[in-house]
Amino acid sequence: SIVRISDDALALALGADKVAAAFEKAGATVQRVSSWGMHWLEPLIEIDGVGYGNAAPGDVATILAGSAPSIGRIEDHPFIAEQQRLTFARAGKTRPLSLEDYAATGGWIGLDKARAMSAQAIVEEVKASGLRGRGGAGFPAGIKWDTVRNARADQKYIVCNADEGDSGTFADRMVMEGDPYMLIEGMAIAGLAVGADKGYVYIRSEYPHAIAKMRAAVKHCAHIIAPFSIEIRMGAGAYVCGEETSLLNSLEGRRGEVRAKPPLPAIKGLFGKPTVINNLLTLAAIPWIIEHGGQAYADYGMGRSRGTIPVQIAGNVKYGGLYETAFGISLGDLVNRIGGGTASGRPVRCAQVGGPLGAYVPVEQFHLPFDYEAFAAVDALIGHAGITVFDDSVDMAQMARFALEFCAAESCGKCTPCRLGSTRGVEVMDQIIAGRDVERNLGLIEDLSDTMKYGSLCALGGFTPYPVMSAIKYFPEDFKNRDLTRE
Ligand code: NAI
Ligand code: SF4
Repeated sequence: SIVRISDDALALALGADKVAAAFEKAGATVQRVSSWGMHWLEPLIEIDGVGYGNAAPGDVATILAGSAPSIGRIEDHPFIAEQQRLTFARAGKTRPLSLEDYAATGGWIGLDKARAMSAQAIVEEVKASGLRGRGGAGFPAGIKWDTVRNARADQKYIVCNADEGDSGTFADRMVMEGDPYMLIEGMAIAGLAVGADKGYVYIRSEYPHAIAKMRAAVKHCAHIIAPFSIEIRMGAGAYVCGEETSLLNSLEGRRGEVRAKPPLPAIKGLFGKPTVINNLLTLAAIPWIIEHGGQAYADYGMGRSRGTIPVQIAGNVKYGGLYETAFGISLGDLVNRIGGGTASGRPVRCAQVGGPLGAYVPVEQFHLPFDYEAFAAVDALIGHAGITVFDDSVDMAQMARFALEFCAAESCGKCTPCRLGSTRGVEVMDQIIAGRDVERNLGLIEDLSDTMKYGSLCALGGFTPYPVMSAIKYFPEDFKNRDLTRE
């Protein structure tokens, strides 16, 4: 029988190559597949559907003899069985660069269908799905596509934002490393929908494996997606290049500085042409939507948040990984039941949802359902759906300081509230941490947060107040009357 081992970067980091080599040395046939997304079990070995977690080269003999402890059938494991995997339907099951595996699992059906549809009908299907931008802002994808479709121009572009800068996020990387053709198919369908024949995937430099896989995948399937074509471009490590206008500048070879909007990229985007710029997960959801119909996708979810969301559970958590489910699941369910609480075994204190610019959500609010509006109503955000879990040893004043320090380090410098506000914010936070004039300094931080929130040009400066103010609001004891002997 065949031994399946992931070649995803996380599995590689945990020694998957060495384990694979040991199996080959023992005479087994090894297949390198995508990751199931059960990160705490990597390297995860699968033989005839049965999983063996945390495998090391020394375990090969007992695994092959059938005497090693197993987790049972992987597909029946509650972490997998309870998910609603639409975008991640192939995760763990196919060889990432195999065109044969892709076609055998429904690949290209969406594109074939789209080719027989009018551009308007494709856009209507996306509108009916209710799909909203998975980068974090949640703007309806169909409306964005319609704007580009209706724009008159000799050239239009599809740009995939694969900069995935949020802390604790890895879903984009998993798609690129595990199911690259699905993303490519989504982009080709977007091209048909708006009249664009050229696409770019902008990938962060920290993802060398994803870049290599995407480059290979684009070559392998060029004949299938033609006349649409795709180029892979590598970023240079700036968080702000995940902001769409900054990303476009970077793609054009300019400094990764934010451009003022309007004009919207949909009207005047890459090289001044109408451009669909979507987060990777938005584009990756498209093949399923066109294959099964927009309504089938909209049948999942709650309120105005339709479909599924690939949640990324990370930080101090026992069972971290990729969990795709319909909107509506509660944060507490994800952190405590599915994630198993903290890895340290200490009580959970909070979770930061939505990356470094996301609010810290205290356990008292873990009943919050995953829904754009429900999170916004309590000044929190879903962002790219990354959850970073913290236990009770976390110092929230240090976390608030970190948010400001991060903003200072990553600011593009274009606008004053962010460029100067973040640096002054770090200084004021240092005063608070040292216990100096705390009430007055907290007032200053509040004023500064207001200025940054309403005066910044983009989300980097504009959203930094969320982690800062949520930390102060829910954990005042970490700011006032601090135990200074801790310092
Ligand atoms: P935004 O609300 O300005 O825009 C959202 C998208 O809709 C953009 O692509 C914009 O061009 C488009 N749009 C808006 N009105 C339109 C119209 N009438 N027609 C066509 N397109 C239209 O939000 P922005 O600044 O793009 O993103 C902010 C979000 O980014 C935050 O909510 C945050 O969660 C998220 N974020 C995500 C990160 C990540 O790593 N994925 C990192 C940092 C922030
Ligand atoms: Fe640049 Fe910060 Fe202003 Fe955004 S908020 S445009 S990152 S200076």
